[in-house]
Amino acid sequence: MSEPVTIRCRENGPYLVLGVVSILDHLGKPFTPPPGKDTIALCRCGHSKGRPFCDGSHRTCGFQAAEHAPG
Ligand code: FES
Repeated sequence: MSEPVTIRCRENGPYLVLGVVSILDHLGKPFTPPPGKDTIALCRCGHSKGRPFCDGSHRTCGFQAAEHAPG
């Protein structure tokens, strides 16, 4: 059985997807992840020019998110 996929919130940054996944658009067509990356980073600041993937724009747009899981 394969490892479960983990999604990790980066402080003031993207969601890191750890594991093998397919990212599909609303029509079910797959996105091609950026080449040369072992981990998929999904934009959550809304400023990436390559959405749904993070392009590093969160560093310059003032995005802040540092949620902590309860417990
Ligand atoms: S989270 Fe990185 S560009 Fe949006």
